[in-house]
Amino acid sequence: MTKKINAGISAFGSYAPEKLLTNFDLEKMMDTNDEWIRSRTGIETRHMAAEGEFASNIAIGSVADLVKRFGKKSLEGVELVIVATSSPDALFPATASMVQSHFDLDAGAFDLLIACPGWIYGLSVAQAYVEAGLMKKVLVIGTEALTKIMDYSDRNISILFGDGAGAAVVEAVDSDYGFQSFLLGSDGNGAKHLGIRAAANKLPDGTPMPDGPFMNGREVFKFAVRIMPNATLEVLEKANMSLDDVDLFVPHQANSRIVTAAADKLGLDYDKMVLVVNEYGNTSTASIPLALADAYDAGRIKKGDNLVFVSFGAGLSWAAMTLKWSID
Ligand code: ACO
Repeated sequence: MTKKINAGISAFGSYAPEKLLTNFDLEKMMDTNDEWIRSRTGIETRHMAAEGEFASNIAIGSVADLVKRFGKKSLEGVELVIVATSSPDALFPATASMVQSHFDLDAGAFDLLIACPGWIYGLSVAQAYVEAGLMKKVLVIGTEALTKIMDYSDRNISILFGDGAGAAVVEAVDSDYGFQSFLLGSDGNGAKHLGIRAAANKLPDGTPMPDGPFMNGREVFKFAVRIMPNATLEVLEKANMSLDDVDLFVPHQANSRIVTAAADKLGLDYDKMVLVVNEYGNTSTASIPLALADAYDAGRIKKGDNLVFVSFGAGLSWAAMTLKWSID
């Protein structure tokens, strides 16, 4: 059976707060140093939300950039706003509703919580609605104000994260372009390795959750280095593609050592991957759309290119997708 509608990305935008939080700034806040952070993570600086700037404002910044790039028409007819985030303004109301009202969209809205892979999960939901013919346009945003919820007395975690957002409109694109395959994964047995509590003070297995963010860096590292190449190969196979077909690999920007280890395991040329973790740090759900916009602006993406996105995060969770780029 041939697919009647091919969904893809028809417009995108990104935004990162102006203020920077450098490794040298962190040196003044805790017992750490630039050399340790750069050599262990590749991170040099991160963008940091201003006072009074939260995930909703940052999301709105990314959609404003989308409108600047593709015009107001790109938002016309949006029927659903999905905001993937790990640092929402509130548990409710949804940050997505705040974006919906700001742009006066006649649309439904919901937040999606699956940590860093959230933006890919959101795109897969959008694809399903559009290709089923149930909706024409869906706006999918990944947005973070993670510096607002970090504990800057904990050097193990707080040095990793930064703020930013990326947005995409998903709608029907010309046949042969658009999404080729998705892979979504979860292993809740790894919940104890990474998280931030909300209503509960322990996990279902009884593991207590502290008040601030918690992470077992080594376990997450091992998981990431295993899952990134595996998920990449699996999602390529689903699309009947091989690594040779990949023009650009856009991985979750968590740590340059994780990304290069994944590329090495795959035997992927570094020229084919995007690495911007030095500037942004780990921006969770925003990391792939921020990296995508940077790569586009650097002239690294052209119409017809095969892109692979792959992400991992708390859950433990992961997601990957392949996309034939349809924008000139
Ligand atoms: N500055 C200086 N020293 C530090 C710091 C710091 N910021 N943090 C830890 N150290 C020290 C430790 O105390 C330890 O000292 P010790 O040897 O005296 O005990 C030493 O440095 C080594 O610590 P390790 O934890 O072994 O360092 P490692 O090489 O594993 O790097 C890191 C730590 C960078 C966190 C790494 O494990 C990692 O990147 N893991 C993946 C984390 C990740 O990507 N998380 C996000 C997932 S996405 C999401 O869902 C949000």
